[in-house]
Amino acid sequence: MMTSQKNITPNYLSAICSGVISFTLSLFIFFLKPTWWVGVFALISIFIFCFFLIRYVVKLFIHRQIKLIYKLISQTKASKREEFYYKNLLPQKSIEEVRIDVQNWADQRKMEIQKLHENEAFRREFLQNLSHELKTPIFSIQGYVETLLSGALSNPDVNIKFLENTSKNIDRLVNLVDDLDEISKLESGELKLSQINFNIQNLIKEVYDSLYLKAADKKISLTIKRGCELPINVHADKEKIRQVLINLVDNAIKYGKSSGLIEAGIYKVEGKKILIEITDDGYGIAEEHRSRIFERFYRTDSARTRKVGGSGLGLSICKHIIEAHNESIHVRSTVDVGSTFVFELPVSVKLG
Ligand SMILES: Nc1ncnc2c1ncn2[C@@H]1O[C@H](COP(=O)(O)OP(=O)(O)OP(=O)(O)O)[C@@H](O)[C@H]1O
Ligand SMILES: [Mg+2]
Repeated sequence: MMTSQKNITPNYLSAICSGVISFTLSLFIFFLKPTWWVGVFALISIFIFCFFLIRYVVKLFIHRQIKLIYKLISQTKASKREEFYYKNLLPQKSIEEVRIDVQNWADQRKMEIQKLHENEAFRREFLQNLSHELKTPIFSIQGYVETLLSGALSNPDVNIKFLENTSKNIDRLVNLVDDLDEISKLESGELKLSQINFNIQNLIKEVYDSLYLKAADKKISLTIKRGCELPINVHADKEKIRQVLINLVDNAIKYGKSSGLIEAGIYKVEGKKILIEITDDGYGIAEEHRSRIFERFYRTDSARTRKVGGSGLGLSICKHIIEAHNESIHVRSTVDVGSTFVFELPVSVKLG
């Protein structure tokens, strides 16, 4: 039997030891009683006896030790399945296989610890961002209410304006809480998708209608790209996809130039997928921000200073929704030329 040095089996080890012992003992017996058949008989019988004895002891020892290691790394009371495993499968594993199992276990633990560290940093950053987002509208509500109470209420030049501003800030808080609620539901997997077949062009048109006034304010036109009018049905959660499209088009308007153009492209790819693109000719997103805009609360500096930005949760929600459909969302952008957000959806499924 060929056995590599690295992978000594109990059989190999027992054979070597028994060989050495039986040879020495039978030589000694032959020396005491120099008859050839006694010597040969002694050699064979001692070899067989030693072989099975050593093999049994070695296996018992190794098996016990390994079982201990497996119990330690699984950290649970052995279930029925594990007992079966210890009894029947484990004894057949070589030390090398066990080493690989243990190595995999160690790698997995290392990854888990790293993930915990990342989550901790994420949580800290999240709380910082959240308190910042809450502070801005709350302080401004506080400011307006105090000013109104200390006399401005009876000043007809400012009272309505201050109340309107207060109301705007309250809306902002409500939006923020709604978005947070949505994100936490998406992240905990609590929100189940209800996927149906629907026409994607019609949904885009509905989204365009709902944002028409906002676009008209900046004289931005909302269109579907030429050649993309052929009706296509997708299979997805319609209301969630409406939310994605609203945020993408809303962003395209907010970060687009006046008199600009927003176009939606719809393409069939790979037969089973539909690619949807929302393109604007706005300010664009610099490369250093591009990979981060899908993070919670992330906004580019220019968006902060332009004062049009929301809380920076929109794209994070979009990403969650698209990922819940097992698809992904990406952005292509050039500063001062424009941005294109792209995501895929599955084509409609035939019912019945
Ligand atoms: N079409 C776009 N053109 C340029 N920049 C964009 C565009 N879309 C998003 N961004 C940048 O990405 C950031 C994140 O977008 P996101 O939709 O997550 O947040 P928001 O629009 O600022 O706030 P919210 O959507 O929560 O109201 C924006 O603040 C903006 O800096
Ligand atoms: Mg947005």
